[in-house]
Amino acid sequence: MITTKSIAKIKKLVGESRKNGKTVGFVPTMGALHKGHLSLIDKAKKESDYLVVSIFINPLQFGPSEDFKKYPRNIKKDKQLLKKHEVNLLFYPQADKIYTPDFSTFVQEKKISKKLCGKSRPGHFQGVTTIVTKLFNIVQPDLSYFGQKDYQQALIIKKIAKDLNFATKIKIAPTIREKDKLALSSRNAYLSRKERKESRAIYRALTQAKKMIKGKEKNPKIIIKEMKKIITKEPAAKIDYIEIRNAKNLEKIKTIEGKTFIGAAVYFGKTRLIDNIIVSKN
Ligand code: PAJ
Repeated sequence: MITTKSIAKIKKLVGESRKNGKTVGFVPTMGALHKGHLSLIDKAKKESDYLVVSIFINPLQFGPSEDFKKYPRNIKKDKQLLKKHEVNLLFYPQADKIYTPDFSTFVQEKKISKKLCGKSRPGHFQGVTTIVTKLFNIVQPDLSYFGQKDYQQALIIKKIAKDLNFATKIKIAPTIREKDKLALSSRNAYLSRKERKESRAIYRALTQAKKMIKGKEKNPKIIIKEMKKIITKEPAAKIDYIEIRNAKNLEKIKTIEGKTFIGAAVYFGKTRLIDNIIVSKN
């Protein structure tokens, strides 16, 4: 595996691979890699000939009171994992080369990004779409991989790729979970023992929603009420949102039909966790 901080070197190496007829796969990450990231990497490895991973903790997508400073960093272990998973090229840029002092251009999706996490984290998705656009321009991948765990993020990236005619195809891979079904996340490391135990309630609530939909319940309000009951039983839990939406565009729905997004954002203590499932009624 080649590791580089240099934008020019990435362009050169990827350009050479493409000239040799190789399909270029790309997995952008913020590091602190876990099995969720590695599942995207393994899928990308299978489906492409030359695999690029980036590790960059993007300051632009963190709010002023969010966890940029304490976000877990473990580059040594990350590199070992990436080597083991046969990544060809690691892009590990410095912040001041990505955002030069005169940087003044931002990419903003204006519909999907206003909803759900966009409401609780103003500016977050603009930070994500700006860095992802930059990374796509640097790497110029054929295939790019994102996790369903961050479903809204993946939908927004699909939308900017379509609206702005990006050349890369966007692929969404399933959420990887712990044994007790908590979705893997770098932020799980912040949870105390008690909070970690309580956090299982999110998946219990999602499962309850799925069960109700399969049992022919069509009213999102009734389902959300049940989900809230399950989560508020946990003393450390504070709900940010619980929503049932159209899975295509995250628009509100009055009746459940077709592909439906069931999502939750819940604080356990100071840690905000998100999770979702997609359910088809039939
Ligand atoms: P990060 O949180 O490091 O996640 C990188 C990718 O891994 C994202 O596409 C995310 O959805 C996926 N992922 C995280 N946990 C997962 C899980 N449990 N199962 C499956 N996939 C999972 O998301 C970001 O970084 C950033 O916003 C980024 C896109 C890199 C832009 O800065």
